[in-house]
Amino acid sequence: MRLNDPSLLRVDSYVDGNWLAGKRRFAVTNPATGEVIANVADLGPAEVTAAIDAAVTAQREWSKRTAKDRAMIMRMWYDLVMANAEDLAVILTTEMGKPLAEAKGEVAYGASFIDWFAEEARRVCGDVLETPQADKRLLTLKQPIGVFGAITPWNFPIAMITRKVAPGIAAGCACVLKPAEQTPLSALALAELAERAGLPSGVMNIVTGMNAPAIGQTLCDDNRIRKMTFTGSTEVGRILMRQSAGSVKKMSLELGGNAPLLVFDDADLDKAVTGAMMSKFRNAGQTCVCANRIFVQDKIYDAFAKQLAEATKALQVGNGLTEGVEQGPIIDNQGLAKIERHVEDAIGKGANLLTGGKPHALGGTFFEPTVLTEMTSDMQLFREETFGPVAALFKFSDEEDAIAMANDSEFGLAAYLFTENAARLFRVSEALEFGIVAVNTGIFSSEVGPFGGLKNSGLGREGSKYGIDEFLEIKFVCVGI
Ligand code: SIN
Repeated sequence: MRLNDPSLLRVDSYVDGNWLAGKRRFAVTNPATGEVIANVADLGPAEVTAAIDAAVTAQREWSKRTAKDRAMIMRMWYDLVMANAEDLAVILTTEMGKPLAEAKGEVAYGASFIDWFAEEARRVCGDVLETPQADKRLLTLKQPIGVFGAITPWNFPIAMITRKVAPGIAAGCACVLKPAEQTPLSALALAELAERAGLPSGVMNIVTGMNAPAIGQTLCDDNRIRKMTFTGSTEVGRILMRQSAGSVKKMSLELGGNAPLLVFDDADLDKAVTGAMMSKFRNAGQTCVCANRIFVQDKIYDAFAKQLAEATKALQVGNGLTEGVEQGPIIDNQGLAKIERHVEDAIGKGANLLTGGKPHALGGTFFEPTVLTEMTSDMQLFREETFGPVAALFKFSDEEDAIAMANDSEFGLAAYLFTENAARLFRVSEALEFGIVAVNTGIFSSEVGPFGGLKNSGLGREGSKYGIDEFLEIKFVCVGI
């Protein structure tokens, strides 16, 4: 891996301000080539408990600092992340596969949470309440929840860390974070930069390891961890919730999605095709908010399908480090197998293949950008998110029908709609049972908008002015005078 600053490539865990080699190592591979790029510390429960000890000690001091003090260190961290954006993007693409341009976008997106929450730290405030009794004064204080555990996914190896850690440390908490085993190098590079920025030892601990269930259980079982924050599957989210019940932890869960994208016949067709391409093929379809089910009104169905298939055929597939590549590999064989299963199931049940549909000639885990039409609700893809580059087109006849199909899911993370009719925009946005509704755009993510879902898509909101509340407790103080 060619980096301007090779010392960003850390392979040991970061606990209490020390780089910890651990007793074992695990291999991290480049999904584009299958090559091993690093052997990283493989920690177990005992080392995770030591990291919790460190976080508990560090949090006492960190929470006593002024918000301005914390913000200044975070701002320095933000500057260092941006100054090293090129190297961070190379590390990210090499371990995860997304095209370099997307990786650079993710670095800026990830950094924006550090900058945003550094500012938000200074705006946390309690209230003085109107008293119901003349001899009392009532106040609320907002205080850090304490030490939190964080478990982050491989699809956004930087942004999902900063979206959790930045509000937490801004609020005066400390954390023990486990990055995905596929992408620990981005996490460790972030820790290296946090250390250079002057973040005190023990405030952010990064525990790398292969045994995610054991590490997760250690975090959940420990009473001193007062909150868990997780992005990943609904199945694992439920396990963490169950394991956290014993110590009644606060939970933030960003879980599975099955995003509908609705295109009405009054939409601007070019805008809808561009939006669908961005939403569907971002990160090779490997985001929780990628359009999984594309519902198109009957009058414009054929024209939309034709334009989408043309744009899809033009996508450049390859190693994300190669100039001009727009779609990298799928993260692993398990991910690839699910995509193949969904496509085979759909075709077996009558779907029509407009383009793609099979593993790419490049081999490995590359998959052809795919468009399927004539999709129906009995197909697996209708219920489960594919997490791959498959645009699946369903037909609808009227608004009511479209809303009913979109809401027919256990998930409720993000939905998209394309219409030029203002009344419909509000009507449909209100009727969709999703935490996020994007109108006439395929991309909505930023540090300013609240990210989070309804139903089995999770609990809590990340980013935005609401994100810091997840790491604060409200204390009521009643003063007799
Ligand atoms: C995710 O897929 O979990 C995050 C996507 C985003 O932040 O836009």
